[in-house]
Amino acid sequence: MSYWQQKIKLGHLEIPRFIGGPLDGITDSPFRKVVRQFSTDALLYGEMRHVGCVANDTGGKKSLDFEQLERPFTYQVSANSTDFVERACEKILAAGVDVVDLNIGCPARCVVKSGSGSALMADLPRLQTILKFFRQQLNIPFTLKIRAGFKEKNAVTVAKLAQDCGVDALAIHPRLQTQMFSGLPDYDLARQVKEAIQIPVFFSGGVVNWATAQKVYQETGVDGYLIARGMWSRPWKLKELGELSQGRSFDVTEAMVLQAALDHLAATVAYYGPQGVHIFRKHLPFYIKGKPSASALRQRLVIAQTEEELADGLRSFFMMG
Ligand SMILES: Cc1cc2nc3c(=O)[nH]c(=O)nc-3n(C[C@H](O)[C@H](O)[C@H](O)COP(=O)(O)O)c2cc1C
Repeated sequence: MSYWQQKIKLGHLEIPRFIGGPLDGITDSPFRKVVRQFSTDALLYGEMRHVGCVANDTGGKKSLDFEQLERPFTYQVSANSTDFVERACEKILAAGVDVVDLNIGCPARCVVKSGSGSALMADLPRLQTILKFFRQQLNIPFTLKIRAGFKEKNAVTVAKLAQDCGVDALAIHPRLQTQMFSGLPDYDLARQVKEAIQIPVFFSGGVVNWATAQKVYQETGVDGYLIARGMWSRPWKLKELGELSQGRSFDVTEAMVLQAALDHLAATVAYYGPQGVHIFRKHLPFYIKGKPSASALRQRLVIAQTEEELADGLRSFFMMG
């Protein structure tokens, strides 16, 4: 069996190599449901929530509302100490997720100021304590998402520490905190991480099509690929990559894009209520990207107040060809 035909073993799970990565504000339950129409068995990450929010139901409650069809599902958290971890893990396990991921890659200023996110990569004793504590609470796969480092690259050291603390798989976005989300990902560092540990390694950063996936494999030899921005308003992306990696073709048709947008809109309104119409707006530009500019129609989409108005506007847009 070729590398691309094999699945990744993660605890009791066997998952395809292309994984739905986390995007806060984007990879919510409605989005994951639409992804599932295309990919039945891919692992899907949700959005990062601080363990304190989960433990105290402040902002984290809605993120624990998901449907069985979204599984296998990775619930992602951040933490800056062991506070709230026990209670948060109890709730997450009770909700029935498949994997818990700790994000120590987040570069956001408000997150690193509190000592969580990528700041933890520069505080290894604290990181070790937190990882061991999570491991004790969880009887399901526990994964870690890292960066190249905080201000300096130390991903290999962090990866070995994670493995020693019982982490089941590691995702690396090989950029420093200072680089945020741009600049060339450090393929060589990802390769060093892959060679240094035995647990599965996932690569995150710029995998948007089959060519980039192949390049990452050649350069790093990693096991899996987190697709984040490449999947934004392209819920078929994991399926597309899966098909191409098996030597099959995959056509992105106009009808498919429109139906995905309509389903995504309907799922968003069903989940959030009428407010969903406004929440969905951030996805619109991507769904209609590359369509001929039609300012009157674009305006119609922007001012739409109801699901019906927005859905009709979308249909008109796609009818223009
Ligand atoms: C708007 C936005 C939100 C993100 N939210 C998260 C998040 O909640 N958790 C996380 O681990 N990474 C988050 N990321 C980082 C992505 O998961 C990913 O590591 C990064 O964007 C590089 O991969 P990509 O080129 O496939 O997007 C976010 C990135 C962006 C641009």
